[in-house]
Amino acid sequence: MGRRFSSVIAVVCFSFLPNLLTAADGKQTLLVNADHRASISLDGDWHVIVDPYDNGYYDFRMQPRPDGYFRNEKPDSSDKLIEYDFSKSATLKVPGDWNSQRDSLFFYEGTVWYEKDFQYQRRPNTRTFLHVGAANYVAHVYVNGKKACDHEGGFTPFDCEVTDLVHDGGNFVVIHVNNQRTRDGVPTLNTDWWNYGGLTRDVLLIETPETYVDDYYLQLQRGVGSIIGGWVHLVDSAAGTPVTVKIPELSLAQTAPTDAQGRATFSLTATNLQRWSPEKPKLYDVEISVGGDRLNDTIGFRTIEVQGDNILLNGKSVFLRGVSIHAEAPYRSGRAWSEQDAETLLGWAKELGANFVRLAHYPHDERMTRLADRMGIMVWSEVPVYWMIEWENPATLANATNQLQEMIRRDRNKASVVLWSVANETPNTPARLAFLRKLIETAHTEDPGRPVTAALLVTTQPDSPEGIRTKVIDDPLGEYLDVLGCNEYIGWYEGTPDLAPRTRWKSKYNKPLIMSEFGGDAKFGLHGATTERWTEEYQENIYRQQIAMLKQIPFLRGLTPWILMDFRSPRRELPDIQDFYNRKGLVSNEGQKKKAFFVLQEYYNSLGAQSK
Ligand code: GCU
Repeated sequence: MGRRFSSVIAVVCFSFLPNLLTAADGKQTLLVNADHRASISLDGDWHVIVDPYDNGYYDFRMQPRPDGYFRNEKPDSSDKLIEYDFSKSATLKVPGDWNSQRDSLFFYEGTVWYEKDFQYQRRPNTRTFLHVGAANYVAHVYVNGKKACDHEGGFTPFDCEVTDLVHDGGNFVVIHVNNQRTRDGVPTLNTDWWNYGGLTRDVLLIETPETYVDDYYLQLQRGVGSIIGGWVHLVDSAAGTPVTVKIPELSLAQTAPTDAQGRATFSLTATNLQRWSPEKPKLYDVEISVGGDRLNDTIGFRTIEVQGDNILLNGKSVFLRGVSIHAEAPYRSGRAWSEQDAETLLGWAKELGANFVRLAHYPHDERMTRLADRMGIMVWSEVPVYWMIEWENPATLANATNQLQEMIRRDRNKASVVLWSVANETPNTPARLAFLRKLIETAHTEDPGRPVTAALLVTTQPDSPEGIRTKVIDDPLGEYLDVLGCNEYIGWYEGTPDLAPRTRWKSKYNKPLIMSEFGGDAKFGLHGATTERWTEEYQENIYRQQIAMLKQIPFLRGLTPWILMDFRSPRRELPDIQDFYNRKGLVSNEGQKKKAFFVLQEYYNSLGAQSK
């Protein structure tokens, strides 16, 4: 069968109904603002069965078992031969990846079955959803032994409707999670980050009224004045159902009827709006009410757009002083998910003098974007279309499209998120161009209010006789992007650090450039000459030389050096230096700041002072 069971069916459904994000059977959806909805947390200890041969699903003929582990049968229930028992099985923490919780699972890629018992009392005239913040990589969800829904993609949330599956009193949920990499997956076989598997983010039970708000989009309209426009989408509502949006602090309230598709459209004129910005990250309480139901959110209002080679925030040119971040948990390692993880990572970014972060290479936990909203840090958010993807496979395109739509749907009301990225370091081929053009179109359709970017590789022209190197941004994908991102490793993978100031940059496009990656590895505490690789001095020198080069690029509008903190990677095996860590961090995974941290901090503080 090759692919995991049943995902083939799911993929087919998605490709026909790309924009609805609801599976054909209506069982899987994505409830926006899940963290502010009435919910019961199922986080904590879950019983697990590590199942390398998927024995809990397939029989010896590799045929799906009718009585697989999802049934959660108890060995003592009959004389039937049962060879598993969740209640006696060990537990793992949820949220959390399995690799960092148990040494024996450090390298594990395969299936793990998760089981949790829960008590539940359903209130009349309500619907119940099982919300999963993220499950890497494919998840099959069962409640009380019956299939609830499936999901593919390790970094975006999904909600399974379980109204007909739950009952009053004792219930159980079983989730089959598999993180095996596949050729047609997104990401695919090769990544420079650890393939942490499991239920890596919150699992909640969410209750809604029978007619409920699943999605909304409220943004400050570009151009003059302060018009907050957008829509609210209701599921299973009669056309003409009145929906009210209130922003009490602005004395704004408007009621609008839903149309035949369940969408109510709004246009609110704010007189004394304080726009969201890094300097003043103002958020407003927003109330959305329908009948007796009410949803609260906190939203900042700002505009972000591109004009020529400028990026305008609230109509003013802005320079994005950034850093790239992986969702690696500081100090303990493993997939980051907690408020503490977010505070530590964004706290270091703030200390650097950053007003921007690139959350690489996949959507991070919603706590990161919520905190970025509050801290005034702008965000580049990305889908894991990374290196080599099966560009010509329609199922892979449907999968990437779905992940992109889920990323946008979860965070399009976050003022901090200013850029969607559709790809990282992908090869310049016609199939790739066609694939990514579709993603860019989808992003613009799902969110007309934000520019789209991607991290490109650039062409290097032969050096001049004087030793000047010229880089040209001429990737055909640049034509379709709003903002150009470029990854370069002058001084690490290419030449020596002093090559950077001798490098000139040209672009075929009159568009803003963000240098989305540069840097080099250094083991914290390893010292030596500036010419000695792996030392802090060598990395420090890379940054000094890079900054000298970057200052010369007239259309540079931001940078996100690689990377804030050392992170785990299966591709980094140099003993006593890497030990399965990519050491390009400015901070070690134990929170120790390397010399280069202070070089960048000095540069950002000087820029910050200029922009005041
Ligand atoms: C690449 C890639 C990163 C990787 C980095 C590195 O550019 O985008 O994911 O970690 O280089 O080699 O350190």
